Amino acid sequence: MKKFDVLTIGELNVDLILGGLKGVLPEIGKEILAESMTLTLGSSSAIFAANLSTLGPRVSFLGKVGRDNFSDLVYSSLQARNVDTDNIIQSSEHSTGITIVLSYVDDRANITYPGAMDHLTLAEITREQLRETRHLHMSSIFLQKALKKDVADLFRIAKEEGLTTSLDPQWDPAEKWDIDLEALLPYVDVFLPNIAEITAMTGTADPGEAAAALTPSANVIIVKDGANGAYMWHHGEKYHQKPFLNSDVVDTVGAGDSFNAGFIAKFVEGKPLRECLEFGALTGAINTTRAGGIAAFDNLQLVRDIALKQFNKKI
Ligand SMILES: Nc1ncnc2c1ncn2[C@@H]1O[C@H](COP(=O)(O)OP(=O)(O)OP(=O)(O)O)[C@@H](O)[C@H]1O
Ligand SMILES: [Mg+2]
Repeated sequence: MKKFDVLTIGELNVDLILGGLKGVLPEIGKEILAESMTLTLGSSSAIFAANLSTLGPRVSFLGKVGRDNFSDLVYSSLQARNVDTDNIIQSSEHSTGITIVLSYVDDRANITYPGAMDHLTLAEITREQLRETRHLHMSSIFLQKALKKDVADLFRIAKEEGLTTSLDPQWDPAEKWDIDLEALLPYVDVFLPNIAEITAMTGTADPGEAAAALTPSANVIIVKDGANGAYMWHHGEKYHQKPFLNSDVVDTVGAGDSFNAGFIAKFVEGKPLRECLEFGALTGAINTTRAGGIAAFDNLQLVRDIALKQFNKKI
C-alpha cells in the first residue's frame, strides 16, 4: 500500500494580517495604526492540504521554505492538521515567503515576498517521492517561478509512475499566463481553474469557449464560479453544479481551495465525477461559513455539523 493518498506540491507562506484599518491608506513618510494583528499559515496550497487531511485522505506536502521563525509556523500548522511535512525542503539561502495583508473593512491590499517558494525546482522532486503517493495535486503554478517551466515534465513523470493528477493553476500575478497548456493538460486528470483564470489563460470571453479551446488536450475540466457554483466539461459534455446557498457568508477566502479539497477527497475514493463535483461545491460553501480558509475544517465533526445544520447535507 502507498504511504499517502495525496501529495500536494505548492507554495508555502505565512500571512501577517493587520486588521481594523479604516479610511486612510499608508503613505510614504507617515505611519498608521492597525487594531489587530494575526500571524497565520497562508497559501492556497496549504489551505488545500490542511482541509483535505481533515476530510480523511493521508496527505503529504512538498514545497520550499526558509530556515526561520516563519518556517516553524508553517511546519507546526501543517502538522497540527496531520499533514506530513517530511517532503518539505528547507533552504538556508532563502527566507520563508510572507504575505502582509492590510485588511480594511471592505477590501484588502496585499504585499507578498515570495522567498523560498520561487526556488523549488523539478530536480528536487524525486520519482521515489511520487511513488509514495496515489495522487499528485499541484496548486499555484505561477507563484513557483523555478518549477513553472518544467510543470508539464512533472505531470508526465507522475503519470509514468501511475499516479492520478490534478492542478489548480490559480491567478498569475504577472498576467502573462506563460505555460504551455497543450503540453501540460494531457497529463492532468482534473484541471481546476476558476472562471477568471480559464478565460484569461485562453484569451476567450466565456468559460464555454475556453473549455472548447482546451478540450482537445484536457481530460476533466472543472471551472469554479463563486456563488454560481461550478461547471464540469468531460468528453465534450457540459454539466452545471448548483451552489449550496449560504445566505450568511463570513468571507470567501479559500473557498476555491476547500472546493478542491472536497473534490479530490471523493476522487481518490474512486467516486463518480458528479459526486466529486457536488462534494466540492459543498466544501466550498462550508468554507464560507467561517473567517479565513481553514477554520471551518478544524475537525471532521465540525465539518459534519456545518454540512447538516447549514446545508441540510449528511456526510
Ligand atoms: N458565496 C458562496 N456561496 C456558496 N458557495 C460558494 C460561495 N462562494 C464559493 N462557493 C463555492 O466554492 C467554490 C469555489 O469558490 P470560488 O469560485 O470563489 O473559487 P476560487 O475563485 O478559486 O477561490 P480562491 O480565491 O479560494 O482561489 C464555488 O465553485 C462554489 O461551489
Ligand atoms: Mg482559486
